[in-house]
Amino acid sequence: MVTPEKYMIGSNAAKYTYDNNMPLIFIGGMPRSGTTLLRVLLDAHPDIRCGEETRVIPRLLGMKQQWVKAPIEARRLQEAGITGKVLDAAVGSFILEVIARHGEPAPRLCNKDPFTLRSAVYLHSLFPNAKFILMIRDGRAVVHSIINRKVTISGFDLSDFRQCMKKWNTAMQAMFNQCQQLGSTFCLPVYYEQLVLHPKPWLEQILKFLQVPWNDSVLHHDQLVNKPGGISLSKLERSTDQVIKPINLQALSKWVGQIPADVVQDMANIAPMLSFLGYDPNLNPPDYGKPDSFVIRNSKVIEDNKVMWEERERELAEHREAVRKALKAKTGAGSEESKIKRTGQRVQLEKPYKEDKV
Ligand code: A3P
Repeated sequence: MVTPEKYMIGSNAAKYTYDNNMPLIFIGGMPRSGTTLLRVLLDAHPDIRCGEETRVIPRLLGMKQQWVKAPIEARRLQEAGITGKVLDAAVGSFILEVIARHGEPAPRLCNKDPFTLRSAVYLHSLFPNAKFILMIRDGRAVVHSIINRKVTISGFDLSDFRQCMKKWNTAMQAMFNQCQQLGSTFCLPVYYEQLVLHPKPWLEQILKFLQVPWNDSVLHHDQLVNKPGGISLSKLERSTDQVIKPINLQALSKWVGQIPADVVQDMANIAPMLSFLGYDPNLNPPDYGKPDSFVIRNSKVIEDNKVMWEERERELAEHREAVRKALKAKTGAGSEESKIKRTGQRVQLEKPYKEDKV
């Protein structure tokens, strides 16, 4: 069977073809590890387009895994002719179409849905030339951010720091393992702390890994936010509030002193991945290194305009809440849509959609 050529026409009238052999870029890691920051830095490059989280890609990957893991379901699929090859072709086409068509075309297409990195090895089998970047951040900062900003993630109990640290540990173990299996040609681990302390050398390394030429715009992403041909941001993604700022040091150590004492005490046992990844579980505050003058300057400019930035953050947060509330009122409990639907004799309750990280 000959597959027809897939292509999109850019706003510059250029034709961009896309297929499974193109060098897609996948950025992932635990949510709150700087994954959005890295995707906007890459989005600032004229040759790369990442775009907002698609949300459907990690969901499809999770579903696909469930279908083949459940023995009876797997057998039924086999007997129905839905072999592994058929499924892979379908899943690959879905992912490619979503990545290609949810934003402007570009020579290099990129996806950032944090948990896709759990399926990096499978994605590599679908897209053999794809490159993967695993964002790594001190788990204590990640969990502090999740709890503090009330980011709901399946399986994470936001009232329990210890439980969240264990979950972070398990997730990081799985994603790091996937990255290692792919090896250094295809997967690059990037430490959030090092990226914000030393943006230029790290971005140089990242672009080299991606085989994309250097462009200074990656150091000034904030100037391209929501500009035509620049960086498209979702007002509903929480990280938008922070990525509109230049690369800065504000988030590095704000977790210090905010963790329950018994958890601090047991940290090395609760989350052995901390030491494995090179963080000292007993150092509070930790020593991540000295920042480059570029980020010191950025942080100072942000501090000098603190009121303006706080206002912008508040506006975005309020807008997000207003949209959430309006949509909840439409589909949540008590609304017309969620009232009991009577279909013949069957009575079925429509569940509100769970809006969390996948
Ligand atoms: P905090 O919540 O600790 O502030 P993700 O996008 O993976 O969810 O990561 C979110 C984290 O990235 C946030 O951590 C946020 O501060 C940090 N981040 C976003 N934009 C940043 C910027 N311009 N400079 C430094 N860190 C940034």
